[in-house]
Amino acid sequence: MTAGAPPPWAEAKQHEQHFSLITGANSGVGLAIGQRLVDDFLNTRSPSSHLVVVVTTRSVAKSRATLLALRKHLEATVSSPKISTRLSGCLDAPYRPVSALRRVHLLSIQLDLCDLENIYGLADTLVNGVISNPPEIPATKYSYPPYSAVRLSRIDSVILNAGIGGWTSLDWFGMVRMLCRSGLTETTTFPDYKISAVGKTTRGLKTRPTGADPASGKTVLGEVFMANVFGHYVFAHEILPLLTRMDGSDDVTPRHARIIWQSSIEAMGYHLDPSDLQGLKAREPYESTKRLTDVLALTSNLPSVQRRCQSYFAPPPRADGSRVRPVKMYVAHPGIVVTTIFPLHWFLMFWYRFIMYVVRWVGSPWHTVVGYAAAVASVWLALESDSILDETRADRSKWGSACDRMGIDCCKRTEVMGWGWEGKVQDSTNETDREKRRILRRDLGRWSGSKDVTKEKLQEFKVLGADCWSEMESLRLEWDARVKGA
Ligand SMILES: NC(=O)c1ccc[n+]([C@@H]2O[C@H](COP(=O)([O-])OP(=O)(O)OC[C@H]3O[C@@H](n4cnc5c(N)ncnc54)[C@H](OP(=O)(O)O)[C@@H]3O)[C@@H](O)[C@H]2O)c1
Repeated sequence: MTAGAPPPWAEAKQHEQHFSLITGANSGVGLAIGQRLVDDFLNTRSPSSHLVVVVTTRSVAKSRATLLALRKHLEATVSSPKISTRLSGCLDAPYRPVSALRRVHLLSIQLDLCDLENIYGLADTLVNGVISNPPEIPATKYSYPPYSAVRLSRIDSVILNAGIGGWTSLDWFGMVRMLCRSGLTETTTFPDYKISAVGKTTRGLKTRPTGADPASGKTVLGEVFMANVFGHYVFAHEILPLLTRMDGSDDVTPRHARIIWQSSIEAMGYHLDPSDLQGLKAREPYESTKRLTDVLALTSNLPSVQRRCQSYFAPPPRADGSRVRPVKMYVAHPGIVVTTIFPLHWFLMFWYRFIMYVVRWVGSPWHTVVGYAAAVASVWLALESDSILDETRADRSKWGSACDRMGIDCCKRTEVMGWGWEGKVQDSTNETDREKRRILRRDLGRWSGSKDVTKEKLQEFKVLGADCWSEMESLRLEWDARVKGA
């Protein structure tokens, strides 16, 4: 692409362009989200539509490897009989794989969620500058444009997937105790025997000392909190100018850009302490961050919480005074997937994977096991039409990737403690006809400690949401001043 030339996707109409950004896309679920996004886009959209996928990794080498992996996947997809049959039916001329391949544009940038300077800097580049792919990517079967100096005009969906577990080992005795008490499915779905490094921190800023902290002399943030929640929280806020749309710009779909958080089913039994949002005192910092993710996303659209999160979603001021549409937040989780998030010796990894398949075979809906199945919920939230998401009140539920015994995947509403499946009292009886299907049944895969939500519990959840938004906003504003004022 020569400087100043229109990007290749400009040949498509605005509503036929889709821009997605995925964090932590070099491995596990993130890589699979990239692959599935490409497949589902090509399988559902018109032959003139274009997809732009921006994936983030932590280094140029990882970006190169990720782009190569995604290109390889894309090349296999465009040559597959499924795509060829579908697109042949929509085209006047014979189908050529290269024509589908030219409609998908893959870019990669580097983002470290534990480094606020990097987050602010990258967000500024995305909003005001241009981005380029790493040079010298080895050629594959097809030649790709270099994608250098690309200016993004908007982003339609941001999938906040990157994350760390922060675990150090397993309490094997605790695992056996849980196995005897609760059975294999519960033991592998809601484990309470992972051991975490409690109170592990990061300085937040890599290059400069920042303010004083009584204990260490440096201002610190919880590492797991930073990687899983706060880094994303700041990043999504900083790229808001790319996410918001002008009122009246009806040729852009989706109508509201989507921020999609990647949570975990493991957050189910966790009691979040609003006075320790960073989870620095928590025995389970990972579960704490995922519970916080659920609470923030599910309450972001509630009238009673709006006042507390107004400053976060406040659209950037426009010189002409015209109104802009706010973005919408959603929350997904990948089920239980075999990835390197929990580092295991290869021998244990083999048996871990084997047991995950066994648990799926005996009927657990949450054991997606492989990344591609685990990606279904986030990709659905990214690509589904506005009308379906509005009709299903998708912003009121946590959407899990689920699988039947044969590995056929689907999205399933997931219970959230104190909120239920969709923020309604007694909603275990509110199943739709579709949800009465075996795999989607609400009682299937339910945590044994779950209780039906009551009016009081719902009220408590809303208050928790308001408190969390207040705390997060004051922390963001504090660090905003620190980084921008440094
Ligand atoms: N696996 C599961 O069963 C499971 C279950 C529930 C939820 N999840 C969630 O799914 C998401 C993906 O996890 P995964 O299982 O696919 O694990 P993974 O393979 O370890 O992938 C994690 C990704 O996050 C990136 N990352 C970690 N720390 C980062 C940081 N500070 N800045 C930027 N990127 C960072 C990693 O990059 P590097 O390669 O550079 O480290 C990697 O790309 C996580 O949010 C996780 O909590 C997973």
